Amino acid sequence: MAEASEIRPGHKITVSAPSNIAFVKYWGATDLQRALPINPSFSMTLTECTSRSTVELLPEGMSDEVFLVDGNGGRLAEAPEAFRGRIQAHLERLRAWGVEHGRPPYGFRVATRNSFPAAAGLASSASGFAALTCAVTRALGFELGLEELSDLARRSGSGSASRSILGGYVQWPTGDGEEGAYAHQVFPADHWDLADVIAVIETGPKRVSSLEGHRRAPSSPHFPRRLELLPGRLTAMRKAVEARDFDTFALLLEEEAIELHLIAMSSKPPVFYWQPGTVEVLAAVRAMRDEGVPAASTMDAGANVHVVCPGEATAGVAERLEGLTSVQRVIRDRVGPGPTALDEHFF
Ligand code: DP6
Repeated sequence: MAEASEIRPGHKITVSAPSNIAFVKYWGATDLQRALPINPSFSMTLTECTSRSTVELLPEGMSDEVFLVDGNGGRLAEAPEAFRGRIQAHLERLRAWGVEHGRPPYGFRVATRNSFPAAAGLASSASGFAALTCAVTRALGFELGLEELSDLARRSGSGSASRSILGGYVQWPTGDGEEGAYAHQVFPADHWDLADVIAVIETGPKRVSSLEGHRRAPSSPHFPRRLELLPGRLTAMRKAVEARDFDTFALLLEEEAIELHLIAMSSKPPVFYWQPGTVEVLAAVRAMRDEGVPAASTMDAGANVHVVCPGEATAGVAERLEGLTSVQRVIRDRVGPGPTALDEHFF
């Protein structure tokens, strides 16, 4: 815990938080605003796809300032309106939480840099809100436990942020109402060296937000059946990861990803995240598997494909994906230990 004397305007904290890729997906909420999920989800926390945020406390009553950091020159630019709005709402929430815990209502100056294309189905909001939650609470002088951080990150409305607080293999249960809706680590990162080789097909913002996808999910006629199947799939997935059984894992991973998109495509109105390139990558991964290469695909709410494979298969898988016409670039990511605090600030 920081000394109370340090907790005054000018105090700065920087935290880097990773994205995560869900093996069993969060899709559908009992309470969308607070991101209370209908089903438990299970994910792997990444290393390379990160959001890094510097937060500085401003004097009480000062308006918040929200910047994005230019990836090349490191210059600060005003954040676009839509991004600013979501960050601002979470800052209000964290400020209110700080006041409840005896802190003055400080303003916040925030600068964030993503290491990867934002809003392209690469879960920049999961890493972004995880980094922001860790940095703001530390700037306010709190050394919170992982459960409380995960719970606060979830309240951003980006439920998957609750999983990015933890490293390794992570489960986020549905909780009982508000209680217990925070994620926990099931296996540490060194339990199994898995890579996530990301085939980037589109870098623009997705056309339908995850929030809207969650809202429409229950309108799919297949959604009730998904809810029946999920408990068995989650148990089988956890067992496959526990046993490092890649063949079983691969079947479950693809079954789950296809089901998520089946629900999206059959929602009312339907949501199509796939592009022709998505299908090209899915076919290439099946071809690799037929040749004996251990690789399996999954997709979030976007066209990009995450190809999960054992760490030692990364180079071969990445080269194959780089050779496909619809793949713009390939990101080589892997399982990692979760958020870290850094001494270097953006301003
Ligand atoms: C398909 O509501 O957490 O990625 O705020 O856009 O990050 P963002 O989405 P969120 O839903 C995530 C949906 C998903 C599946 C998952 O990550 O569990």
